[in-house]
Amino acid sequence: PDYQNLLVEQHDRVLLVRLNRPKQLNALNDALMDELGAALTAADADESIGCIVITGSERAFAAGADISAMASWTYMDVYRTDYITRNWEALRRIRKPVIAAVAGYALGGGCELAMMCDILIAGQGAKFGQPEVKLGILPGAGGTQRLPRAVGKAKAMDLCLTARNMSAEEAERAGLISRVVPDDQLVSEALAMATQISGMSLPIIMMIKESVNRAYEAPLSEGLLFERRVFHAAFATEDQKEGMAAFLEKRPAQFKHQ
Ligand code: HXC
Repeated sequence: PDYQNLLVEQHDRVLLVRLNRPKQLNALNDALMDELGAALTAADADESIGCIVITGSERAFAAGADISAMASWTYMDVYRTDYITRNWEALRRIRKPVIAAVAGYALGGGCELAMMCDILIAGQGAKFGQPEVKLGILPGAGGTQRLPRAVGKAKAMDLCLTARNMSAEEAERAGLISRVVPDDQLVSEALAMATQISGMSLPIIMMIKESVNRAYEAPLSEGLLFERRVFHAAFATEDQKEGMAAFLEKRPAQFKHQ
């Protein structure tokens, strides 16, 4: 499909999605979010894709929801149409792994979008923040919920209440992101990581994602039970037979994603 606000490329089994409103620092408007929801939903259904990377430009992953669009909205506008937030649920339903590769600003909805991804990696110059308070609003796509789960209450309150930015180093120390890499290697590192993931058994990768996410939704006893059930299900895959045979035969596994 022809996207107006995204650049999409496939590299082997990896889909690379670039947010592409560079003049607005990738401010997230409904048109962009509609396209992102469509692109990710299509990738989830596409058997040739095993992992998805979302990135922005060197200056900005995304500087937040589009303030020029939001400025005149009334309560009834946002309540009745669910502007902006309506597509975010679609992102939650993606079952394949999604990596956020963040360079530059990831602010407001941009930080929230990154936090919806399964793995965050960032360039050294990345900046994360929830500056909504300065605009007279609050985070609306999970910032007050996912940030404390990722970095703890103290730092989440600090960021949401003061609107200050957090560096990539601080974000890594706090546990928001998994790796910091040189800015000019961000996309290549993200693609390397995604290529590695997409070479594993896709059904097993999906089971792992589902199981790790349970850690956020369920008490420990339920999460452990879920993991046990999915662990048993892994033995129903051909890829389990292949993976273990390959180990015993001292050769690389050739997964068939079934
Ligand atoms: C609309 C934006 C924008 C945004 C930047 N731009 N962020 N437009 N919405 N969120 C536009 C600017 O207006 C400007 O347009 C151009 O992008 C370049 O930005 P500058 O401000 O000139 O760049 P710079 O001085 O480098 O400052 C970068 C910045 C600043 C620190 C990121 O742009 C900024 O503070 N942006 C807003 C960040 C923010 O408050 N985000 C939270 C939004 S609320 P022109 O036309 O002048 O060149 C939110 C709620 C989410 O996200 C709710 C749930 C979905």
